[in-house]
Amino acid sequence: MTQATKKRVQDIPSEPAHSSSHMPLSIGILGCGNMGSAIIKALSGHAAKGDFRLFAWNRTKETLERLAAAGLPVAACSTPQELAKHADMIFLCVKPPQIADMTALVAQSFADAGKRNGILVSIAAATSLEAMRKAAGKKCFVTRIMPTTTLAVGQGLFALVNDGTMPQEVCNQIRSILLLMGNVYEMSEEKLMLFSAAVGCAPGFIFHLLQGMVDGAVALGFPRAQAHEMVVGTTLGCALLARESALSLNELRDQVTSPGGMTIQGVAVLERTGCRGHIMDALEAAYRKGVQLDKK
Ligand SMILES: NC(=O)c1ccc[n+]([C@@H]2O[C@H](COP(=O)([O-])OP(=O)(O)OC[C@H]3O[C@@H](n4cnc5c(N)ncnc54)[C@H](OP(=O)(O)O)[C@@H]3O)[C@@H](O)[C@H]2O)c1
Repeated sequence: MTQATKKRVQDIPSEPAHSSSHMPLSIGILGCGNMGSAIIKALSGHAAKGDFRLFAWNRTKETLERLAAAGLPVAACSTPQELAKHADMIFLCVKPPQIADMTALVAQSFADAGKRNGILVSIAAATSLEAMRKAAGKKCFVTRIMPTTTLAVGQGLFALVNDGTMPQEVCNQIRSILLLMGNVYEMSEEKLMLFSAAVGCAPGFIFHLLQGMVDGAVALGFPRAQAHEMVVGTTLGCALLARESALSLNELRDQVTSPGGMTIQGVAVLERTGCRGHIMDALEAAYRKGVQLDKK
């Protein structure tokens, strides 16, 4: 089993048998840190079914070896150039300072491989499309997306920049891949930073808030593991209720605050501490930082 798995990871996969007209035949992940690895894992079920082939490159080889050992259907490439040779669409999952150089390298490699319709998608929070276009020199299509870490469980939210400069077919191809991992919102690049602050950063805010609830349950005497399980379970239930109910969030909250009851006492404390205003300020602070980073 281990050998078969290894073989599947190291070999260059053959052409996929079935591919939707909107789907690229092969997808590359450049940079396999937290986000790159999460994208590989999220797409691996589809690659295993033969919907497309999956390739990856990472500066540190051990990361690729770990992915291989986990049995993921991804072929490791030894250079970014090799990745560009095999993949039709590449997700650039490195940090913002590397985006321009990697864009130039991959665009040239697409050209060297005779590919005129290569697609490069940056997931970086910063580095403008203008800088990417300059680096790519019209050798491939470039765009930006903003993902959430929740893509790892198929519940990602993605902003996809569509400023009308790419053929719709290219946008459709990117969207078709993102839809396998969650929901997609197409928008202008100006809106991308707003989305990053409100949605891309949201898992960080939500985990932080949930940690406070876990600590509160521990303070009341529950073991930490049980407190964690209870808080996550309640949150999941609340999210599903909020999604499926026709009621607004305020109305859902009103439903659980009985007159003279316990919950309204807790809500009163949250109101006195300005909890909702602080959350709004947090989004604003994240946005300001994003704008600052984008200018660098
Ligand atoms: N984390 C999030 O929630 C999130 C959400 C949305 C967007 N993003 C964006 O996703 C991108 C990756 O974030 P991450 O959280 O996955 O970061 P990460 O876990 O630190 O991964 C960074 C990746 O960049 C590679 N890298 C770093 N310096 C490099 C260099 N000089 N040359 C080549 N490769 C280099 C790393 O390779 P090594 O393994 O060799 O170090 C690794 O593959 C960032 O641009 C970030 O803005 C992140």
